[in-house]
Amino acid sequence: MVSSCPKRPVRKAVFPVAGLGTRFLPASKAVPKEMLTVVDMPVIQYAVNEAREAGIEHFVFVTGRNKGVIEDHFDLQPELVGMLASRNKSDMLEVLSKNQPEAGRTSFTRQQEPLGLGHAVWCARDIVGDEPFALLLPDMVMKAKNEGCLSSLMEVYNNTGGNIIAVEECDPKDVSSYGVVVLGEEQGGGFAINGMVEKPAVEDAPSNLMINGRYILQPEIFKLLENQETGAGGEIQITDAMLRLAKMQEFFGYTFTGSTYDCGSKEGFIAANVSFALDRDDTGPVVRKLVAELLGI
Ligand code: UTP
Repeated sequence: MVSSCPKRPVRKAVFPVAGLGTRFLPASKAVPKEMLTVVDMPVIQYAVNEAREAGIEHFVFVTGRNKGVIEDHFDLQPELVGMLASRNKSDMLEVLSKNQPEAGRTSFTRQQEPLGLGHAVWCARDIVGDEPFALLLPDMVMKAKNEGCLSSLMEVYNNTGGNIIAVEECDPKDVSSYGVVVLGEEQGGGFAINGMVEKPAVEDAPSNLMINGRYILQPEIFKLLENQETGAGGEIQITDAMLRLAKMQEFFGYTFTGSTYDCGSKEGFIAANVSFALDRDDTGPVVRKLVAELLGI
């Protein structure tokens, strides 16, 4: 039987960053793909900033071998700060400080073996504990029209409680590359999710609302992940655990209407770079001119 959950605050966010990033070889051989830059910020920083804007207080990174530089990135660098201060580089100091989590607000754990996204999330169980948490797939870099995607999920959560999944419309021809949801009644600024299907055939897809990499989940997911068999691709899948959790708890959806760039793929990564560079005052005018020249327009 499906039951509603108490609306406890969402304070922690999990960032799974232990994947091998094979689509980005050779770049990802020694540099984690999450540290590749979109303009001048590593991919991972976009998701962390989105989480912080949404009120998240603690940032949990599930890393793996060769990912130590992610921990360094979120640490304070006193020598660099001292050098910038002595040279009066206040603009650069501000850039560093606004991207810096407070001391004691980050945790790092290792997945040890990349056994799938579901397994990576399970590795965060002790740090998250018995409370709802946000899950952000950092590969998915989002450009919102107004507030960030996770902030909108938090608003729906504050109305409905339960588990929340962000979705967005995709080309119906592409549904077989994604998990998609079955749309239910409107509720609390979102909608009830009446089912989920992982990578459906185009003709069988219940909707073109693809799951885009932002979630709020209840801690009961950890127990389900613990006992879960491997699924598609021989990996422990988060969607399989969510399908089992949906038999016990409510799931709601929120449709994100901004732009999402899959920075785990080359095309998405390049598109994100061009798109963010065009939007910025410092890079926009020159990049616009360069792109127009390259396209001969
Ligand atoms: P992806 O499937 O996009 O990442 O997982 P990947 O496996 O690194 O990519 P390719 O296909 O080999 O290029 C989505 C997110 O889940 C993390 C990844 O780091 C990425 O942020 N992940 C995936 C883990 O943390 N552990 C895993 O076992 C798998």
